[in-house]
Amino acid sequence: MATTCTYPLLLSLISTFFILTSSSSPPSEADILLTFKASIRDSSNSLSTWSNTSEIHHCNWTGITCTTISSVLSVTSLNLQSFNLSGEISSSVCELPNLSLLNLADNFFNQTIPLHFSQCTSLETLNLSNNLIWGPIPSQISQFGSLRVLDLSKNHVEGNIPQSFASLNKLQVLNLGSNLISGNVPSIFGNLSELVVLDVSQNSYLMSEIPTDVGKLVKLEKLFLQSSSFHGEIPDSLVGMQSLTVLDLSQNNLTGRVPQTLGTSLKNLVSFDVSANRLSGLFPNGICSGKGLINLSLHTNVFNGSVPSSISECLNLERFEVQNNLFSGDFPVELWSLPKIKLLRAENNGFSGEIPDSVSKAGQLEQVQIDNNSFTSKIPQGLGLVKSLYRFSASLNGLYGELPPNFCDSPVLSIVNLSHNSLSGQIPELRKCKKLVSLSLADNKLSGNIGSSLGELPVLTYLDLSDNMLNGEIPQELQNLKLALFNVSFNQLSGRVPYSLISGLPASFLQGNPELCGPGLLHSCSDDPPRHRSSDLTTLTCALISIAFAVGTLTIAGAFIAYRRYYKQRPQTGLWRSVFFYPLRVTEHDLIMGMDEKSSGGGVGVFGRVHIVSLPSSELVAVKKLVNFRVHSSKALKAEIKTLAKIRHKNIVKVLGYCHSDDAIFLIYEFLQRGSLGDLIGRPDFDLQWSVRLRIAIGVAQGLAYLHKDYVPHLLHRNVKSKNILLDADFEPKLTDFGLNKILGDAAFQSTMASESAFSCYNAPENKYSKKATEQMDVYSFGVVIMELVTGRQAEQALPSESLDIVKWVRRKVNITNGAVQVLDPKITSSSQQEMLVALEIALHCTSVMPEKRPSMSEVVKSLQSLDSMTYTAVVDFSAFEEHSVV
Ligand SMILES: *[C@@H]1O[C@H](CO)[C@@H](O)[C@H](O)[C@H]1NC(C)=O
Ligand SMILES: *[C@@H]1O[C@H](CO)[C@@H](O)[C@H](O)[C@H]1NC(C)=O
Ligand SMILES: *[C@@H]1O[C@H](CO)[C@@H](O)[C@H](O)[C@H]1NC(C)=O
Ligand SMILES: *[C@@H]1O[C@H](CO)[C@@H](O)[C@H](O)[C@H]1NC(C)=O
Ligand SMILES: *[C@@H]1O[C@H](CO)[C@@H](O)[C@H](O)[C@H]1NC(C)=O
Ligand SMILES: *[C@@H]1O[C@H](CO)[C@@H](O)[C@H](O)[C@H]1NC(C)=O
Ligand SMILES: *[C@@H]1O[C@H](CO)[C@@H](O)[C@H](O)[C@H]1NC(C)=O
Ligand SMILES: *[C@@H]1O[C@H](CO)[C@@H](O)[C@H](O)[C@H]1NC(C)=O
Ligand SMILES: *[C@@H]1O[C@H](CO)[C@@H](O)[C@H](O)[C@H]1NC(C)=O
Repeated sequence: MATTCTYPLLLSLISTFFILTSSSSPPSEADILLTFKASIRDSSNSLSTWSNTSEIHHCNWTGITCTTISSVLSVTSLNLQSFNLSGEISSSVCELPNLSLLNLADNFFNQTIPLHFSQCTSLETLNLSNNLIWGPIPSQISQFGSLRVLDLSKNHVEGNIPQSFASLNKLQVLNLGSNLISGNVPSIFGNLSELVVLDVSQNSYLMSEIPTDVGKLVKLEKLFLQSSSFHGEIPDSLVGMQSLTVLDLSQNNLTGRVPQTLGTSLKNLVSFDVSANRLSGLFPNGICSGKGLINLSLHTNVFNGSVPSSISECLNLERFEVQNNLFSGDFPVELWSLPKIKLLRAENNGFSGEIPDSVSKAGQLEQVQIDNNSFTSKIPQGLGLVKSLYRFSASLNGLYGELPPNFCDSPVLSIVNLSHNSLSGQIPELRKCKKLVSLSLADNKLSGNIGSSLGELPVLTYLDLSDNMLNGEIPQELQNLKLALFNVSFNQLSGRVPYSLISGLPASFLQGNPELCGPGLLHSCSDDPPRHRSSDLTTLTCALISIAFAVGTLTIAGAFIAYRRYYKQRPQTGLWRSVFFYPLRVTEHDLIMGMDEKSSGGGVGVFGRVHIVSLPSSELVAVKKLVNFRVHSSKALKAEIKTLAKIRHKNIVKVLGYCHSDDAIFLIYEFLQRGSLGDLIGRPDFDLQWSVRLRIAIGVAQGLAYLHKDYVPHLLHRNVKSKNILLDADFEPKLTDFGLNKILGDAAFQSTMASESAFSCYNAPENKYSKKATEQMDVYSFGVVIMELVTGRQAEQALPSESLDIVKWVRRKVNITNGAVQVLDPKITSSSQQEMLVALEIALHCTSVMPEKRPSMSEVVKSLQSLDSMTYTAVVDFSAFEEHSVV
């Protein structure tokens, strides 16, 4: 009884309380937040938890942090970074009495600097970085007096920096970088004495000297003024910034000298960068006196004089860059053996001196570039002991003597340029440098033969041996390489030039070797019976491929016949077990009977024949027969195939089921009527429009990205090629033949692949030395498929005369001026040329010889999609390609 009475009473009490509070007191924090949200466009629905109907307390809404202040929970921080927000930033947040941090960085707010934030009395940190904020900085910015951190970087803020900034005297971090600020930087820093970080970089319209009063910032630790058109001299006052650790004045228009005592005054310096200005005078004195310096960059100025040997005090130095100056004198030997040094760049100066054997102590050294100086030195044995060395470039010096046999022993050495020196003796056996991509020894005095061991360097792509005294024949083994550049001009080479080494390369790369003979050269070879024997190895290669194919086919056919006999002899053995993942109304008997020879429409792959079988329901399925290596029990086999069958993606062929005996596994796939992309490209009438080809590329990329990243467990395809891309009626591509290693077991898969691999241009070069399959190998193969789509050529040509593999062919062309346009499929109208060139660039990235330079499949999807969705106007610069992405 009592309960029924008290209930309405309680209710009315509560509602009275609610009416009272809501009418007389300020809006609740939740209401304030909802008002703030109301003016925001939240296209990704990132703020879905912000709702007055939700059960969640507003302190637990996305992006909100509350703190208990005088025993009340109160919003103190609003972090809405990277939420795809746009619309209006309303001042209502300022009604949150204790809000101290507001981070709206990385959104799409398109408005002027929201001055009403001056009403946020507790606000200490405001981050509006990377939005679309525009317009000038109004002088009322002074009202942000309580701010300690203000980040307006990466917007379109323009106009001058107002004098009134001076009143923001609590500022510790001020970032105005990457905007359109112009004019003179006023003297405001005398008042900003708390500053720890000041960034005014990347404002190319600033026309200012460096204000002298920055020298008063005794607490400043980081000063970024790069790329902002600062001119005039570096003020002497900078010596006052006692706490400075990072100073970046690079890429301005500064002149004069570095202040005399700057180096010795700034004892905390970790990074000093004044590169790309017009600074002159001597190397900054005492720059190492603080001992903490890690990065030192003076490059691209007009400094002169020598580098003092006191540089050896910089025990922590990692990067030393003085290239493109007028330095002279002996390069300090101490630099070569600094314990932490990674990068030495001194090219284009007048340095003399030697490379000491003690370079072996530089255990972290990665890159050396000392081209175009006057070093007179032998190449020390010690260099070969530096196991981290990646690039060694010392062209245009006076290096002499023989190359030490270990000079390329670093397991990561990729680029060697010793051209235009006086090296003599033979080229040593280079077997260890499995990562060597580019080797230039041009214009030296090297003699002897070109060793066949060069052919064992799996990723060697650029080889320049021109202008030496090399003799003997060009080794056939070099044909194993995917050479994009092969220059042996002006030597004393003789004999027949292997055909695949000259095809697609300018004849000038062979000139100056009167004894060389072969097609396209002055002499044809004397032992040449007419024409057909001339493409020697090429023909052999193809013959081998054909034999391999024939043997493969025979084996498979043999197995098939044997199997059929076996089956026919004992038709009801019951040894067959089948598992269907879809309701296929079919018995294994129907399936096997359907698989007679004439049904083999799907072609032969390395792993076996594909049959198209009509089910009793008149549905068609594709059945692939694999030899059962019996690596798995029935149960394990089912688990493996189920993993593949569970994949649901529009660009991956469905596995419908399988049946297996002890000898064979039949995988049943959905049937796609247009057959494979590879067969389509092989037809003489192949003329798909570019938009369709691009959609095929995107689809395949999405399928692979799904296998690599989204599907659990992550899978590798391991056999990406155009023949394994099937097309449905709408040309939507679907990958097939994926993950067979799961079914066959890795060993059997590897050995079957190896029988084909040596010849397949879909295989990444590292396949030869790396046992472990990687995503990057799939990416490489995919790059080859894009090349096929862009060029309209099959990757693996049937005719011996066209046997140059597509990657080599494309790379060679692209290396020649205007060559990139020449590789595009002429059947496609020129209006698509820009897009095709970009796709070609993506293909070149994917087929980069260095696996780590290849993009991930999801990056490829993004690049291809952006190509699809916009009219592309950027110019693709293929001349820069070699330097940036291959090497
Ligand atoms: C919730 O918010 C909406 C719009 O902001 C408002 O119309 C509605 O009255 C609110 N409901 C309650 C229970 O406060
Ligand atoms: C926020 O969520 C956590 C965990 O779900 C919970 O423990 C906490 O009480 C919630 N805070 C408020 C204020 O509701
Ligand atoms: C923002 O939008 C992009 C594309 O419009 C989307 O990929 C991304 O996931 C969105 N981010 C968030 C946090 O919703
Ligand atoms: C938090 O807000 C309350 C209410 O306005 C105020 O009294 C208090 O001083 C604020 N506390 C801080 C630390 O700002
Ligand atoms: C920003 O808004 C202005 C109009 O206020 C519009 O003209 C401009 O295109 C917008 N910028 C972007 C990048 O959306
Ligand atoms: C502002 O946000 C951006 C984006 O997350 C971040 O990189 C930057 O460090 C923040 N600024 C400050 C001063 O913390
Ligand atoms: C500099 O700061 C002081 C307070 O520290 C203030 O009185 C003065 O007005 C500021 N100067 C300028 C130019 O804003
Ligand atoms: C640098 O200054 C010179 C002369 O003062 C001027 O001609 C040149 O345009 C400036 N360069 C840049 C990039 O501002
Ligand atoms: C040194 O330079 C490298 C490359 O520019 C950079 O990644 C690194 O952060 C710098 N180190 C310091 C301490 O500034």
